[in-house]
Amino acid sequence: MTLTIRKFNTRHVEMNDLIRCGTLNQQLANQLEDYVLQRKNILISGGTGTGKTTLASILIKFIPEDGRILVIEDTAELHVPRPNLVRFEARPEQNGVQPAPFATFSKPLYGIAPIACCSAKFEAPRLSISCNC
Ligand SMILES: Nc1ncnc2c1ncn2[C@@H]1O[C@H](COP(=O)(O)OP(=O)(O)OP(=O)(O)O)[C@@H](O)[C@H]1O
Ligand SMILES: [Mg+2]
Repeated sequence: MTLTIRKFNTRHVEMNDLIRCGTLNQQLANQLEDYVLQRKNILISGGTGTGKTTLASILIKFIPEDGRILVIEDTAELHVPRPNLVRFEARPEQNGVQPAPFATFSKPLYGIAPIACCSAKFEAPRLSISCNC
């Protein structure tokens, strides 16, 4: 049996932290902010622990406050401090309760008209439903 513990940092990393530690420069940070404001699709990928969730949480802050944000995750990780947030988390079958796999959330939920959709931890065949809308 393997037990995995995922412990989340209580300190939220900001874009300035990423610039300070050399992950990106101000120009790229501005470019990414523009892409979010222009509602471009952004795919963040990388190995385990490479900072995907951290970057996604930072970019989400650039989404205008008045829009509804839809988050679909296999495991709740993203920090989205917004009142107009609609959040879904996949779950495996548990004690006879039906599973709710990631894929079940994709199509019907786009009907709730979000201005941005963020998803996390999808596998390759799900790639086509993982973009900002
Ligand atoms: N650019 C960065 N420079 C240094 N440390 C970072 C950077 N981005 C994130 N971290 C730190 O690295 C750790 C892992 O970050 P994060 O959880 O965002 O990675 P992840 O790619 O989402 O991981 P996982 O694949 O497990 O979901 C955290 O402690 C985070 O604070
Ligand atoms: Mg992550």
